[in-house]
Amino acid sequence: LLADSLYIINNFARDYFQETLTNSEEGQNIGLSYFEERGFTAETIQKFQLGYCLNTRDAFVNTAIQKGYSLEYLQKTGLVTIRNEQPADNYRGRVIFPIHNQSGKVLGFGARILGKHDKAPKYINSPENEIYFKSKVLYGTYFARHAIDKLDECLLVEGYTDVISLHQAGIENVVASSGTSLTQDQLRLIRKYTNNLTILYDGDNAGVKAALRGLDMAVEEGLNVKLVLIPDKEDPDSYVQKIGAEAFREFIAQNKQDFILFKLHTSLKDVGNDTQRKSQLVNEIAETIAKIDKVEDFTKQQDYIRQCSTLLNIDETAMVQLVNRFIR
Ligand code: UTP
Ligand code: MN
Ligand code: MN
Ligand code: MN
Ligand code: MN
Repeated sequence: LLADSLYIINNFARDYFQETLTNSEEGQNIGLSYFEERGFTAETIQKFQLGYCLNTRDAFVNTAIQKGYSLEYLQKTGLVTIRNEQPADNYRGRVIFPIHNQSGKVLGFGARILGKHDKAPKYINSPENEIYFKSKVLYGTYFARHAIDKLDECLLVEGYTDVISLHQAGIENVVASSGTSLTQDQLRLIRKYTNNLTILYDGDNAGVKAALRGLDMAVEEGLNVKLVLIPDKEDPDSYVQKIGAEAFREFIAQNKQDFILFKLHTSLKDVGNDTQRKSQLVNEIAETIAKIDKVEDFTKQQDYIRQCSTLLNIDETAMVQLVNRFIR
């Protein structure tokens, strides 16, 4: 079966890149020291099965073909491309992050360039194929699912290294959207384990924008959404490495804010005295509140109506009517 073949190739590649990282001279000098400089311990590197792809044209693909793996399938996994009519390693000179499904099978890889990335992209990710559907996967689910279940909360971050650093700091209920905005399928995956989602996005504008996009969908999925803004220029990885595990936990606990109220606060700042924009905002908020399942969560919806009408300085009964208009 095609899917099985792709899993087998990914397994082989994962092992090969791990072996290269820990046992080759180039792997140690370049890949391993890169991870060490980023503060990853040997245990962490092992746990996440991190690897390194040699900076040669075709060391990996040659070994793979020698072992009998088909070039066609190697291309399907994105590990190999054809360059100047010859097979070539796609991730050469990059460190490797295997992407696992919930049961630990390798679906694909993220491959990070070392040093500056002006010309080439920072990360190259596996293409979609018969086993890897980007919009259905959250990085780290395999390592996080027990902790999410136990703590009844899922933390969502942007990147691979955010997941890894938080794990190393003992915060294990964390998965990454890998830079894309959240999809319905990813939210459903989270809902299998918990109803409580806390978003920890990078403190830049892009991070906040991405977070806001996910809001309505997450509310619609029935999730209780909280948000923590990481300070500007930091992300969860850099910030936890900077301030330490305990201070980071404290930071999360003290800066967790309700998502709907956050959206309202941020938008209110933009609206100012513009009445047209304000009524547009009132509508948007009403629409969001309407998405909270009334049957399951009547008091929650009531609370939001009360708090939001106060913040917007409008009549509560009017807000109730408006919300009801959006309930189909
Ligand atoms: P970031 O730019 O925040 O990278 O993108 P990062 O996770 O902090 O990575 P480091 O610390 O620089 O190594 C967040 C996520 O977006 C995806 C990756 O999944 C990344 O982890 N991304 C980013 C890409 O797929 N390609 C890119 O070129 C950049
Ligand atoms: Mn960059
Ligand atoms: Mn970012
Ligand atoms: Mn980072
Ligand atoms: Mn980041």
